[in-house]
Amino acid sequence: MSSQATTLKRMAYEKMRGSSLRVLAVSSGKGGVGKTNFVANLAYALSKRGEKVLVVDADLGLNNIDILLGLAPKKHIGHLLSGEATVEDIILHGPADINILPAGDGLQELTQLPPEKKILLMDELDRVSQGYDFLIFDTGAGISNNVTYFCSAAHETILIATTEPTSLTDVYALMKTLHLKHAQKHFRMVINSVSSEREAQGVYSNLTAVTDRFLKDISVEYLGYILHDANVPKAVRQQKAFLELYPFSKFSVCINELSEKISKEKPSPLSSERDQPYFWRSAFQVQ
Ligand SMILES: Nc1ncnc2c1ncn2[C@@H]1O[C@H](COP(=O)(O)OP(=O)(O)OP(=O)(O)O)[C@@H](O)[C@H]1O
Ligand SMILES: [Mg+2]
Repeated sequence: MSSQATTLKRMAYEKMRGSSLRVLAVSSGKGGVGKTNFVANLAYALSKRGEKVLVVDADLGLNNIDILLGLAPKKHIGHLLSGEATVEDIILHGPADINILPAGDGLQELTQLPPEKKILLMDELDRVSQGYDFLIFDTGAGISNNVTYFCSAAHETILIATTEPTSLTDVYALMKTLHLKHAQKHFRMVINSVSSEREAQGVYSNLTAVTDRFLKDISVEYLGYILHDANVPKAVRQQKAFLELYPFSKFSVCINELSEKISKEKPSPLSSERDQPYFWRSAFQVQ
């Protein structure tokens, strides 16, 4: 490791330990289980509770958070890397004062970047992240490098699953990869699109019956549930935050409960316990 990188890493790590910034990665094994809707509305609810939130679009897919919220990014991470823009130029201002860092097509190469570009990006992100209480990564689904980098770099990994058996087998595969290849031990589960809390707890029990048997070293915590709500696809079509359009609908009630729980936990026990370098450095593997 170069001395510059070592110094940067130490400085950032010390800064991080003294800060209350929480970095959450939201992921899933199977695609289309509700990550982006959860992230957008959790960010909205946290922001309404007075938290300063930056959502980082960490998904290479097409159903991105800026589209969900009807925002039209002109610049993205690629422009930052080519020196055409700063982070401030890229950040989008969403509903309820949430900020969003759009990936555009710049994210594709992140893990392949040369060291000087990684450092440029990290310095910009280190600088900008200081003003926030929460950074939330909306990752893609599955076990690709981008997904596992963002999950292993965050303080907390929140995994979304539904009642569908394939969503459970796929989330199990993701936990296994994150544990075996990235030494991750703690996972938090949100069960989405259920008809009752009881159904969510049943899904969680089925999942932990398997993890307790085959992945003995990991802990899988039940974070909460989100009810199936026929208004969700309507809000998606209207390209507005669900909580703004339907504040009293079932989905909103569940998201508000989750945001209250997450917000009250601050500062995270896991963030101080986990001995890790600053998340961006870890995410982009600067040595
Ligand atoms: N609680 C819910 N009730 C009803 N529909 C829902 C619920 N949560 C998500 N959906 C629907 O599921 C679809 C997928 O949601 P979303 O795009 O948030 O998933 P994703 O996990 O981010 O997908 P991808 O893996 O493609 O990024 C959306 O069309 C949305 O309307
Ligand atoms: Mg998504």
